[in-house]
Amino acid sequence: MDVRQEQDGVWKTLFHRQTPQVEAFACQEYLDGSATLRLPDDRVPSLDELEAAITPRTGWRLRRTPVRYSDALPWYRHFGRRVFLVTDYMRSWQELDFTPEPDMFHDIFGHLPFLVLPEYTGLLDLFAPAFLRTDDDHREQIKRLAWFTTEFGLIRQAGRLKVFGSGLLSSVGEIRHVMDGRTPILPFSVELILTRTKAIYTFNETLFAFDSLAALTSELRTYFDSVPTRALPDLPTRDEDESNLVDWELADLAGGPGAAH
Ligand SMILES: [Fe+2]
Repeated sequence: MDVRQEQDGVWKTLFHRQTPQVEAFACQEYLDGSATLRLPDDRVPSLDELEAAITPRTGWRLRRTPVRYSDALPWYRHFGRRVFLVTDYMRSWQELDFTPEPDMFHDIFGHLPFLVLPEYTGLLDLFAPAFLRTDDDHREQIKRLAWFTTEFGLIRQAGRLKVFGSGLLSSVGEIRHVMDGRTPILPFSVELILTRTKAIYTFNETLFAFDSLAALTSELRTYFDSVPTRALPDLPTRDEDESNLVDWELADLAGGPGAAH
């Protein structure tokens, strides 16, 4: 079996295991996005076919990367250009329930249905400008806020708790753990989140629920507006050309766990 067939096999298994869970637990935005994106159930989709649905709706584009966990700075530089990086890496058969590293199932199944929604990409658009202009301490804060919102956030819809975060939506094990009530859920609070640490190698100990995408966007906008501009600019980069940016990033900035998402 070649690599592509192996990846398609893992995709198909994960897709069929996860679809009933997202149908039961995912927020309305994810379900709406999925109905538009219409991911195939039996193979890894090509970026071209995904972009055909995403780019005309929100302007976001996709780039494939062999980096298994992109470092935050190049990742947010792409983000600022509305380019979403999709890793070439697919989890193994032994990691179906939980993988500490985002793989292509996480990136595509977890994130991309949202990228057809302008109201969602309006939220994403807030992150990169603040991250790129600010200092290292505030960059850590922004990564933590991303972790507890777009990756592992929960949302209350029609009186019920629903899953908003892409990390949960693509995790067969943790989404069940959370929706079984085994993870304490607190009301969303920027101040509280900034005191928490991210769980990379285990399930999260505590998660946060907000009342709506609009309310989350409003609260994060208030925070991002308060983020200071760093005193010293980043060193000059060769990111004027996007292909150069990818090459440069792969050569110099492949990161470890704890990076952007
Ligand atoms: Fe992610």
